Amino acid sequence: MTTATPGAESSFRSEILSFYSSASTEDLCARAGSLCVERKGSRVLLRGLIEYSNVCDRDCLYCGIRKSNPKVRRYSLEAEEMAAIAAKGYAAGLRSFVLQGGEEAEFAATVLPRAVELIGRACPGAAITLSAGILDRAEYARLREAGADRYLLRFETSDPDLHRRMRAGWGLERRLEALGDLASLGYQLGSGYMVGLPGESEETRVANALLCRELALDMVGIGPFIPHPDTPLAGSEQSAIELTLRATALTRLLLPDAHLPATTAAGSLDPQGREKMILAGANVLMPNITPPESKRDYLLYPGKICLDEEGETCIGCLGLRMRSIGRELSFLRGDAPRVEEPGYVPA
Ligand code: SAM
Ligand code: SF4
Ligand code: FES
Repeated sequence: MTTATPGAESSFRSEILSFYSSASTEDLCARAGSLCVERKGSRVLLRGLIEYSNVCDRDCLYCGIRKSNPKVRRYSLEAEEMAAIAAKGYAAGLRSFVLQGGEEAEFAATVLPRAVELIGRACPGAAITLSAGILDRAEYARLREAGADRYLLRFETSDPDLHRRMRAGWGLERRLEALGDLASLGYQLGSGYMVGLPGESEETRVANALLCRELALDMVGIGPFIPHPDTPLAGSEQSAIELTLRATALTRLLLPDAHLPATTAAGSLDPQGREKMILAGANVLMPNITPPESKRDYLLYPGKICLDEEGETCIGCLGLRMRSIGRELSFLRGDAPRVEEPGYVPA
């Protein structure tokens, strides 16, 4: 956000809050949907998702694979396994991969850099995105040197008190510091938030979208919080999909050029959730190409879709789903527009 003074900033915030609170969902989504087509085109970009490990050192209250959940059968893929999965996706046409897993410093220092290198070799010209949580700057630098182009680290909620409660004592400022490290290392920067965490207000939801703009994000991941029965948030109220659609639309209106995925969590909460998110301003889909025997154990929340399907099946399914709403898939890398501008020099 580039408002000049604190006064101007707070008046911009109240303006957005009043616009958001009074707009109907239909109007918000229609405006954001057409802005998205205007700025990003009507094709929907694909990113192949590899859930490489469900081992995590953290204990986020919302997450099904948190360290203290003894019911999780833990797994971690080898670097060679990740490269073989990516190569299969590459053969199916994918040119963008996301490696996501628990926050585990040792794994990130040993296996991940090698996985990134191997994927780079097996999939020439493909973009590699990491989502491995908070790591030291030196580790982010090492992964960048290994060939990672982008990083996704959601701030989860912009409310500092709620953040600390939800993340078992870890503060929002540490996530923001990590995002600063990633940006300074030249990563294309992704963050985002969950919608409907217990204790979240209408103001928080607007502040979440505004923080995405303030951080000048290249990618924004937004998804509904879905309570997991084996976490301290079991039994929390489930927000309606509408709230996620409103958040998507507002974020698109505030960041016209960002890449916004229609998330698996939205598709898990509502069978048409991803289509609805696309129509509300999202422009990316992430087929889960993790082999079923692993992804069945990556249960962040209950009711997760695509657990039995291979990646190719999901790509075919997404093609049909997009056609049903008048859209087509794109297999391009889909870099951030600023990276594609002539004269761009990476850090
Ligand atoms: N460990 C890394 C991190 O936390 O950034 C990456 C993996 S983490 C599982 C990916 C995302 O899953 C988190 O950023 C969070 O927003 C989302 N998530 C976790 N539990 C969830 C839940 N119960 N419902 C919806 N999304 C959830
Ligand atoms: Fe670990 Fe990420 Fe889950 Fe938190 S959200 S417990 S850091 S996997
Ligand atoms: Fe996975 Fe439809 S997207 S089965």
